[in-house]
Amino acid sequence: MDLFELMMKRRSVRNFEDRPVPADVVDRLLDAANNAPSGGNIQPLSIVVVQESEARAELAEMVGRQPWVRNAPLSMVFCIDFFRVKRWAAMFDVDFLGEQALSSFLIAYADVMCAAQNVVMLAENSGLGSVYVGTIQSSIGRAREFFGMPEYVLPVMVLSLGYPKSVPGNIPKLGRNVIVHRERYRTLSDEQIREVFESKYGDITDDVDTYLKRAYVEVVEADRQSDMGHVDNAKERMKKLDIKSNAEFLFNLRYPQKLMVGMNSRLIASLRKAGFDFPGIGPVSAPGAPPSEASGTSP
Ligand SMILES: Cc1cc2nc3c(=O)[nH]c(=O)nc-3n(C[C@H](O)[C@H](O)[C@H](O)COP(=O)(O)O)c2cc1C
Repeated sequence: MDLFELMMKRRSVRNFEDRPVPADVVDRLLDAANNAPSGGNIQPLSIVVVQESEARAELAEMVGRQPWVRNAPLSMVFCIDFFRVKRWAAMFDVDFLGEQALSSFLIAYADVMCAAQNVVMLAENSGLGSVYVGTIQSSIGRAREFFGMPEYVLPVMVLSLGYPKSVPGNIPKLGRNVIVHRERYRTLSDEQIREVFESKYGDITDDVDTYLKRAYVEVVEADRQSDMGHVDNAKERMKKLDIKSNAEFLFNLRYPQKLMVGMNSRLIASLRKAGFDFPGIGPVSAPGAPPSEASGTSP
């Protein structure tokens, strides 16, 4: 299968066989991560490989009891790691202040995701399936403690992997032309925006089980694996919140927006606890023009 076909067929897999991933395969995945692009080639990342059952169970708790994290034979915890870089710089009396520079932080986050996506694609090519689990965000402190991470190490993404027992069917995506702008950004009208999302998600008035399978595959899979009533719960909440559109479903039910904003203070506190603090970030209320975006240094 060529690379394009492989990329088009890849789906997030949440149902894994109870079969370990051989050590040489794991090493190749990690080599692929290590060979990923990195801003300035500084490589401010670390990956904690999790295979033991106790740690798998603990990690699953940390990410909000997503059953596939416990069931996957292998998870990788991707971390922004400024600890190593800072120590190295300090040995030469040099300051590395990535933990205070939002720019370094964003580039490091991108580095981590480049590495993780290398793993995703090599895994796919090796007959493995994988799923990102971003909810580690809500347990940064717990994860840092459990894995013994020092200051300036921040777990930002989990990737769970294994041999697929089943792979989801089609997952709705926007049309290619929606995300592509040739030479200039093309601003869509409200009507066009409504249409592109309608063609992505389809009709919400469909039978609710069919809808959930298409739009919220995670709850359907979670129910299959843990029997915790996630689907019934989602259905009840759809009724209670009187969900009538895909946008309401996403931003009132799945990701209630006030709740998301409310998570800021906790997230910022866990970043600070890990030594990450960005001076100068606060409400932009001062008069005068903000510094030009173009005046910064490039990675
Ligand atoms: C940043 C990020 C975070 C994600 N977090 C989760 C997660 O916490 N749990 C989960 O089951 N899937 C998670 N996913 C997988 C998405 O649900 C999945 O990519 C999306 O539904 C599209 O499906 P596809 O990967 O098959 O194209 C995440 C994906 C990304 C890129």
